[in-house]
Formats: sequence, C-alpha cells, structure tokens
Amino acid sequence: MIENILPSNSESYWRAHEDFPLFPKLNEDMEVDVAIIGAGLTGITAAYLLRDSGLKVIVVEGSDILKGTTGFTTAKVTAQHGAIYQQLIDTFGEEKARLYYEANTEAKDFIEQTIEELGIQCHFEKVDAFLYTNTDDGVEVLQKELEAYNKLGIEGATLTKDTGLPYTVKESLKLENQGQFHPLKYALALVKQAENKGVQFFEKSRAKSIHSTNLVEMVDGNEIRAKKILVCSHFPFNDEDGLYFTRMYSERSYVIATLAEANYPKGIYINVEKPSRSIRTTVGTDGRRYLLIGGEGHITGRFEGDTTANFEALAAFGREQFKVKQYAYRWSAQDLVTLDQVPYVGPMTSGMQDVLVATGYAKWGMTNSAAAAKIMADNVLDRDNRFAELYAPTRSKMKMADISTFIKSNANVAKELVKGKTEKIDVLFQDLQLGKGDIVKLDGRKVGAFKDVTGKVYLVKPVCTHLGCDVVFNDAECSWDCPCHGSRYTYTGEVIEGPAYKPLEKIEFVE
Ligand code: FES
Repeated sequence: MIENILPSNSESYWRAHEDFPLFPKLNEDMEVDVAIIGAGLTGITAAYLLRDSGLKVIVVEGSDILKGTTGFTTAKVTAQHGAIYQQLIDTFGEEKARLYYEANTEAKDFIEQTIEELGIQCHFEKVDAFLYTNTDDGVEVLQKELEAYNKLGIEGATLTKDTGLPYTVKESLKLENQGQFHPLKYALALVKQAENKGVQFFEKSRAKSIHSTNLVEMVDGNEIRAKKILVCSHFPFNDEDGLYFTRMYSERSYVIATLAEANYPKGIYINVEKPSRSIRTTVGTDGRRYLLIGGEGHITGRFEGDTTANFEALAAFGREQFKVKQYAYRWSAQDLVTLDQVPYVGPMTSGMQDVLVATGYAKWGMTNSAAAAKIMADNVLDRDNRFAELYAPTRSKMKMADISTFIKSNANVAKELVKGKTEKIDVLFQDLQLGKGDIVKLDGRKVGAFKDVTGKVYLVKPVCTHLGCDVVFNDAECSWDCPCHGSRYTYTGEVIEGPAYKPLEKIEFVE
C-alpha cells in the first residue's frame, strides 16, 4: 500500500498539464524518403531538423506521441552526466571524451537557441549543475572528475560546498551555465513546426520488423518503403540479430513532485553514490515552483518486493531534507544504458547503412537525443558529422570492464530464462489481494493475475513475447515488466514498451 503522502496513481507532472494533438493511425502502405519510427524527443527533433529538406518524412508512433521516456524524464539540459568524464577518458581516451562533452554542449546550445528562435514558452532556465557527495569515496570521485574536466578543457567547473541545497554536502562539483525546461512544451513546439512543413505524424501504429534495408512491416500488416529508416523507438524493435539486446540493459527509476513551500534551490543536482538522488525545480503552469526528486533506480523487472517502496524512499528523503508533507505527482521512467555509457547512434549494422538507430542515453536523454537527431539528420542529408564515429553502434573497441558487463548481462538474462521456467509458485490465486498482481497458481497452472480494487480479475500468460522470459508484476505502475530486456505490458497485456511488439497472451477467467 502506497504511503498516503503520495498520490495513489502514477502520473507524470509533465504529461498532466499538456494537451496533445491527435494524429491518425497509419492505415495504408506508404512510400517515403524518411520513415522515423518513434515519436519521442529524438524522432521529433530529427523530423524538425529535416522539415526543410524537401524530403517526404513521416513519423510513426506505436502508442501516442511523447508517451515514452520523454514524458517521464527529469529534463535536465546539461553536459554533466554524473561522473562520466574520467570514465570516458579511461575507455576512449581524451580526444573522444572531449568529443562527448562537445556533442552534449552543442546539443544544449541547440536546444537553447531553438527555444529562443521559435519563442517557445517551455520554462527554460539557465542553471548550474551540481554533482555532490556526502562520503569520503565520493569526494575522491569528484576530485578525479575535476581533473578530467581540466584535461578536457571543460570550463566553468569548481569544487564547492555551497550548493544552495537545504542540507550540507561534503563536496560538490559545480558546472555553470547548464539548463532545465519543460520537455513536452518544447517537443510539442517542434512537432508543430515539423507538421507545418509537411512532416506527417501517425499514432497507434506499431512497427514490427524491417525486412530489408528499405521496408518496414507494421503489426497490422501495412508496409512503409523508405530510403532511410530512423529507429527512434527507445529499444530498437527490429533487433533480429540480437546485437543490441546483449549490449544494453534497461533501468527503471522513480520521480516525485510537489509544490515547494520553502525557498528551494535553483540548480540541478545529482549525487555520486547510491541510492541516487536527482533534484531540480520547475515553474508550474500556475506560476508556482515545484520540486522534483528522482532516484532509486534498478534494472527493470529486478526489484525484490513491492516497487512502491521506491517512491516511499524518495518521499522519506523529501520529508527529511525538504520538509515536504505531501506530494502531488509520482511517476517512473525507463532508461537504456550501453556498456560504455555512450549511446548507440548511426547505421544499425555495417550491412544496414540506411537503417539508423538511436538508443542507450543512460538517463541523459535531453542533450543526447538532440545530438543523436543531428547525427541522423546529417546522415540522411549526406553531411559530415564530427560526432558520428564516437556514437557509432558499430564501434568495436570494448575494454575488459565492458566485456565483463557483457558477460554478466547475458548471464543474467540466461538466469531469468531458466528461473522463470523452474521456479516454484507459492502464491495461490485465491490469496491475491485487491489492487495487486502476481504470478499465481490457478487450477494447477501458472498464470499472471491482476485483481483490481473492485475485484475484477485480468489473467495473462506471464511469458514475454520477445524472447520468452517470465514477466514480473510492477505494483507501483500496475504493469508486467520483463527482467531480460525491459519490455513492459499493461495489466491487460498490451505492450507499453518494447522490444516486444506482441501483447501478452490473454487467459479467460472463469469463476
Ligand atoms: Fe526480451 Fe522480454 S524483453 S525476453
């Protein structure tokens, strides 16, 4: 049972206050120059960048626009992505680590300039970013990170204990001149611009596979022929060769938001250690300032117990550090993390030069999505992009640390596959409480069951339609989540996010 200072339903603050345009379902075959699969910030920014190209561009979304990761982010517009630069220097060397910084700084500047040029009212604010710690180990990490900044020539960075937070920190690394905004107000303005220039958007149109380099097959049988296909669907839906499933993992994290009653800080913050705490504020549509607290990340489908405990941990932190008594919003997000922390953007494989992918932003999707959209748009327009090589999915260098993550990640998937098939089910259907879901035994059979608060029962076969791992129930979101590659389904079995594109098999409940 969720603590009563939190709302009973999960709802993103960003999505709660926006009106979304409605777009038709794709119900015919199409032939276009560019097919963009996925209407999140990456797909929308790519469409915006291609709006004046003279090319026929369509954007096809499996669900509704901006209902995926973009609607659930904390929307920090920064090149300070945790303590990443020392790690990037170790993995790629200084030159490429610097390129990563420059790609994200140029992306930040692009967002800011676009907002200014178009006069977008999206509450953009220039703020300082802080990476902070309260442990001795964390202080060492921050000192090393500042050394990395100095090697890379990153300016505007200092170590300081003066953060503006209402609690003391042992140390923080401040990076000046970063930003925050309302991600959906920004993205919707780009949609309008693209649409005005002839880009067509389609919703509730789910892609199933890419048969050759220029043919997209949709779940309902329609086909799109395109000279270039941009896969911006979060997890690439068309990974038949499994190249991406084994090189990324998906992580869920949690956010709560409330009206601020005190003088809340104006920066953007994240700590170095676990559990993570990500903090920012935003000006609400009512002109008042809201506080957002995020964190408690874990690999999708791999949290022991009731996931509402993650919201409660954040609420306890807010109560202790910010004296918050009540929260108005709670929601969770899903992010994909690559083995070396740099997203995969570019031709999907060396043999598929016209199918481009953008994925794996590791929670830093605001700037990385803009960088990715620019790389893809430049590819479409046959222009050079100096960041393309760094982000290329086909980059081959893997260090020992990456290889061990790779082996561990695949061993975990294998374990989930085996565990699902052998694990004993202790919960009997009749013991399932109202408002709860679980894998239960019903008439000697293992089924996924959800009983709503009125007692209505929804049954599914609890086997992911992607590669067959057993799904687990996520209490906080009332969803079935797959621990292998992060597919998620509603309690009725409909796909929320892939790589799966087929719903869970429904089972009829007979009383
Ligand atoms: Fe791959 Fe479920 S997402 S098996």
